Amino acid sequence: MRIVMLGAPGSGKGTQAQRLQSDHGLPQVSTGDLLRRAVADKTELGLQAKAAMDAGELVSDRIVLGMIEERVSRPDAANGFVLDGYPRNSTQAEDLEKVLGKLGHGLDAAVLMDVDFEVLMKRLTGRRTCSANGKVLNIYFSPPEELDACRKAGGELEQRADDNEDTIRNRLQVYQRQTAPLIDYYKGRNILKTVAATGEVNEVYSRLTNALGLVLAP
Ligand code: AP5
Repeated sequence: MRIVMLGAPGSGKGTQAQRLQSDHGLPQVSTGDLLRRAVADKTELGLQAKAAMDAGELVSDRIVLGMIEERVSRPDAANGFVLDGYPRNSTQAEDLEKVLGKLGHGLDAAVLMDVDFEVLMKRLTGRRTCSANGKVLNIYFSPPEELDACRKAGGELEQRADDNEDTIRNRLQVYQRQTAPLIDYYKGRNILKTVAATGEVNEVYSRLTNALGLVLAP
């Protein structure tokens, strides 16, 4: 399956994409993760992207298109993938269709992770990533044993640079202005699936797999 995860910052796109990857072998392709790696490695591309990311603005379409084209052409993505954070505006949605068209593919589903706006700030300020295994956790919502497991594995609970209140506010505005119009775009292509994304991570996952017609892993 070729899936796009749509949804506001903090709606759980990355969390659910990680689950789809581990249960169904669909590689999670996150432009945010690819960009953060480029920033950490201080590559040319990372240096160009950093200011926009720190401000909560979108990085240029040209930069992310190059990254996506390279990533979805790799052998592990030949049978499907989950795009997490791409596309984010109408130009990117059209670019994606062209890239997939060249590979002879189309999208099977665009999933809107639907969450009340009030929940997002708490999810984002509480988000931490375990440095030992890359797992996305939350100091308010993750079970204490999951947070402890990270520390016991020698990991640190790291906070993303853009998860501060000012940047989050801007990211949410950018989402409303530039990304939310893609909901109608994919509705018009008859592939939009809306998943109620409030509630426990496992409940949301079960709604998501139902919407996609995937069998839940035992
Ligand atoms: P990106 O990394 O894509 O960030 P985002 O879209 O802002 O999305 P998030 O990663 O913040 O949220 P998420 O929906 O994945 O939520 P998560 O699962 O982590 O982009 C960062 C920046 O990179 C952008 O601002 C931009 O500058 C640039 N960029 C990226 N892609 C780009 C593109 N295509 N074009 C241009 N620029 C681009 O969950 C959040 C928290 O909630 C976690 O702590 C999690 O544990 C918790 N949580 C999840 N589900 C639940 C639940 N059901 N109950 C309780 N807690 C939950």
